[in-house]
Order: sequence, then C-alpha cells, then structure tokens
Amino acid sequence: MGTKGRAIVGMDVDNLIKMLNKALADEWLAYYQYWVGAKVAKGPMRGTVATELLEHATEELGHAELLANRILQLGGTPLLTPEDWYKMTNCGYEPPEDPYVEVLLEQNIKGEQCAIEAYQQLVELTRDADPVTYEMALQIMTDEIEHEEDLQALAEDIQLMKERR
Ligand SMILES: [Fe+2]
Ligand SMILES: [Fe+2]
Repeated sequence: MGTKGRAIVGMDVDNLIKMLNKALADEWLAYYQYWVGAKVAKGPMRGTVATELLEHATEELGHAELLANRILQLGGTPLLTPEDWYKMTNCGYEPPEDPYVEVLLEQNIKGEQCAIEAYQQLVELTRDADPVTYEMALQIMTDEIEHEEDLQALAEDIQLMKERR
C-alpha cells in the first residue's frame, strides 16, 4: 500500500476497494466464459468467432491485472478464492451450454453490456475523488465498449450470411 496514495483518495476507500473487487470477480468470470466459449464454439465462422473470443479473454485477464494492482496500491486484498467470484460478481456467469456461435455471442454481448454499466458507475464515482482509479476505469470501459461492438459486428455478419444465402 502507498499511504499517501491512499490518503489522497477523496472517498470511502474501503468501499472503493469493494467495488474494485466486484469488478475483479466479473473479469475472472468473463475471462473463463470467453476462454471456454472459444474452445467449444460450433457453427458458421467458428474460427473467426473463437479467435475473437480468445482475444477478449486475454484482454479481460489484463483488466483483472489492472484491478488487482490498484486494489493492492489502495491497501486492499484482491479476492483470494474463486468462490468469492460468484459471491461478488455484478454480471454473473453464463455457461456456454449451447455452443452454437450465435448463442455464445448473445451471452457475451449481455456480459459486455453489464460490464459497461459497472465501469460507467465506477467512472462516475471516481471522476473527482480518485483520478487514478478514474483513468483505469475509463480505460477498461473503453475496452468493454470495443468488445461489445466486436461481438455485435460478428453477430450481424452471421445474420447477413444466413439471409443472403
Ligand atoms: Fe474486462
Ligand atoms: Fe470485455
């Protein structure tokens, strides 16, 4: 922990750490949902879809890294067990029980939309009180917005392919 770094945060730091840990839970669940989704994907453009899902998985892991580092800087402890991911998550986990590409895309679009909302809240909350967390949350939110768009573009292409056949 950086004592001065923590002291300059103009809000309840323990509550902030809790919100960051909730986001951390979301990132790990999103990581696995994407990672295993890429493995099981079936249907049109499966290769393209799997590549995109795997790319997103890697980026969610990067977000987990950023969040854990910020939690430590603030004197908190990143969630230590996977059980806590389920207890703390905002956005939950949707198992890819139906591996059809369009279903996977739909599930992950829903996850991204939830993530965008969660980071939007964090951005609003920290804008003036904690510029360091604000910058990080904004950067992650920007990635989540890209993720949503990537997935929606793929879903659209699959739809077009079906219509034009
Ligand atoms: Fe993420
Ligand atoms: Fe994402």
